[in-house]
Amino acid sequence: MKILTVCLGNICRSPMAEGVLRHLAEQRGLTIETDSAGTGNYHVGEAPDRRAVAAMRQNGIDISDLRARQFDPADVDRFDLLLAMDADNLRNMERVAPVPHFHAKTKLMMDFAPKHPEREVPDPYFGEDEGFDQVYRMLVEACNAVLDQVEQAQRKATEG
Ligand code: 4NP
Repeated sequence: MKILTVCLGNICRSPMAEGVLRHLAEQRGLTIETDSAGTGNYHVGEAPDRRAVAAMRQNGIDISDLRARQFDPADVDRFDLLLAMDADNLRNMERVAPVPHFHAKTKLMMDFAPKHPEREVPDPYFGEDEGFDQVYRMLVEACNAVLDQVEQAQRKATEG
């Protein structure tokens, strides 16, 4: 199972989402591949924003190894599930990769947390530090639900 998380800059939300996913998957003993990308190219090659690194580190997760890259149309073929942080990201992904199977593979991250009051993960870049903690909590809720589904699918596959 290969999962790509996508935001605008690939230095705040999507690397945090990748870090949460790979951490929770490891805790569950689940094997998944993760990556993240940004629809914009402003921060290509950069490490995650220091506030994102700090918020994750407070929760015992290290994302300092990640580096930003731009979303590539071929990502729709390379990954099984593509999770966009907000509706703008999703629109921009479809604009550069308008393939027939686009909608079958892509979702908003918060689609996995239907009980959460927000449908989009808010961009914390221009806000206060608290915004990063809020993003972290939203991502944990949604990513746990993503991994519940992955676990179910893997169980079905091994049971035949
Ligand atoms: P992200 O946050 O999409 O969560 O990585 C942003 C990072 C940088 C910018 C915007 C959003 N920017 O405009 O540079």
